[in-house]
Amino acid sequence: MMIFLKIIGILFALIIVKIIFIAVFFHKEVQAARAKDPAAKGFFEIILLYQGLHALIYHRIAHFFYKIHFNFFARLISQFSRFITGIEIHPGAKIGEGFFIDHGMGVVIGETAIIGNNVLLYQGVTLGGTGIEKGKRHPTIGNNVVIGAGAKVLGNITVGDNSYVGANAVVIKDVPANSTVVGVPGRITKQEGKKIDISLDHIHVLDPIMQNIEELEERIKNMEKSN
Ligand SMILES: CC(C)(COP(=O)(O)OP(=O)(O)OC[C@H]1O[C@@H](n2cnc3c(N)ncnc32)[C@H](O)[C@@H]1OP(=O)(O)O)[C@@H](O)C(=O)NCCC(=O)NCCS
Repeated sequence: MMIFLKIIGILFALIIVKIIFIAVFFHKEVQAARAKDPAAKGFFEIILLYQGLHALIYHRIAHFFYKIHFNFFARLISQFSRFITGIEIHPGAKIGEGFFIDHGMGVVIGETAIIGNNVLLYQGVTLGGTGIEKGKRHPTIGNNVVIGAGAKVLGNITVGDNSYVGANAVVIKDVPANSTVVGVPGRITKQEGKKIDISLDHIHVLDPIMQNIEELEERIKNMEKSN
């Protein structure tokens, strides 16, 4: 009975230490979770139960060991975090303040990714490379960017400040600041608050579905003219 009470006491003390640790060192991320998740009910819920926050805490520790070249240990922490949270962040990734991953499961962030301040990612986001190239091969994400569920941002590209990447988009070209990008491949639909409809790159990136739709539209117009 005494041993049981001691174990309960130790667990309780560990939870208190965890709450104090997170409240002191991660208050910006807790605030970000409160601000960005309408479902967040309170401080203790976020600190104890939010996997996105826990993944970031593990990452900060792993990144410290990565920087002092304890690569194996850094990777061990990162893999443990992946096992616990379902979120894989390479220890080399640089992540700013106020970062929040909502839901989290399936997020992958590559080694040379750089993420600015106040960024929000949803589940299933990949910040990845496009092949087996070396060097800086993952995206740079600006401040105040939101990346929707399932979106893939690939290669050494930049997503500018205050931009939105739509759910399930595949972005392989730079995105200017203050833009919204949707679709596969990503197309800018809004810039500086104005609705627009241009491809990120009409010359090099072809979207076969859009091409088919455009062809059909052309044929319908021609049929209408000839009637
Ligand atoms: C892209 C997004 C940010 C909306 O931006 P917005 O500026 O408000 O865009 P709108 O709703 O005005 O839509 C603009 C156009 O893009 C289209 N669109 C919006 N989101 C899209 C998406 N994810 N994929 C493809 N097209 C999309 C709209 O249908 C609309 O097309 P239209 O101009 O032909 O009618 C939002 O739709 C989105 O994908 N957010 C991610 C949210 C998310 O992942 N939530 C997960 C919660 S668990």
